[in-house]
Amino acid sequence: MQGRVAILGATGGIGSALARRVAARGATPVLLARDAGRLALLAAELPGAEARLVDVTDSAALKAALAGPLSGLAFCVGSIVLKPFARTSEADFLAAFRLNTLAAAMAVQAAAPELARGQGSVVLFSSVAARAGFAMHAAIGAAKAAVEGLSVALAAELAPAVRVNCIAPSLTRTRIAEPLTKNAAMAEAIAKLHPIPRLGEADEVAALAEFLLGPDSGWITGQVLAVDGGRSTLRGKGG
Ligand SMILES: NC(=O)c1ccc[n+]([C@@H]2O[C@H](COP(=O)([O-])OP(=O)(O)OC[C@H]3O[C@@H](n4cnc5c(N)ncnc54)[C@H](OP(=O)(O)O)[C@@H]3O)[C@@H](O)[C@H]2O)c1
Repeated sequence: MQGRVAILGATGGIGSALARRVAARGATPVLLARDAGRLALLAAELPGAEARLVDVTDSAALKAALAGPLSGLAFCVGSIVLKPFARTSEADFLAAFRLNTLAAAMAVQAAAPELARGQGSVVLFSSVAARAGFAMHAAIGAAKAAVEGLSVALAAELAPAVRVNCIAPSLTRTRIAEPLTKNAAMAEAIAKLHPIPRLGEADEVAALAEFLLGPDSGWITGQVLAVDGGRSTLRGKGG
């Protein structure tokens, strides 16, 4: 991996783990985040990184923040919206789509010309909830399923110059997951739903993103890859 790699949501659990991996490979992480304090801390930890403050739902600011040569882009921004369907408003659906899907699309649109100059690679994030049906997940499930459709459409349209892949994690210990993981009994119960019976760690997900951004994945595009302890495809010994 070389050149500048944009990491949106760089101050998140998976984004920051990926930023450390990109820096360790000798590439330049371009850290994009909305929280100035967290961004400054991460940038101080990674000498050579570039840091830019941006709210990804502001398309014009996003485009400006992504200016310059790029060899990779990872959109590690997201939300988990858990509400009974009957109480999920139009605004909830639109907010989930705007943050998880539309902002990812606008980021790739802004970066694509530069990515195309150097066989660039894009990594987007879906969720196990895009394909497995979970109660209370209507807004986020719909938005993340749209990210999967976006990923394959962009992979087709931008080939061969730019590769586009998508990672679908199950519950992973980051800030976004805290509503589900802060209660130890609930975390344990969810962990047991996985054939590998634990929750994911941010760095395990970042490891796949690093691979997809790098040259060893040069013939992989248009894929949605799960990092989920087997939850999306396997049934445990209990059936
Ligand atoms: N963790 C899981 O269980 C899980 C499961 C399935 C999918 N995912 C997906 O994995 C990806 C990475 O999430 P994560 O687990 O690393 O969660 P995280 O630690 O909460 O990171 C999410 C990041 O998104 C940033 N963000 C949110 N809204 C933003 C905005 N408007 N502008 C700029 N940045 C914004 C947050 O910024 P702040 O630091 O300012 O809050 C945070 O840094 C997301 O797409 C998520 O949906 C995660």
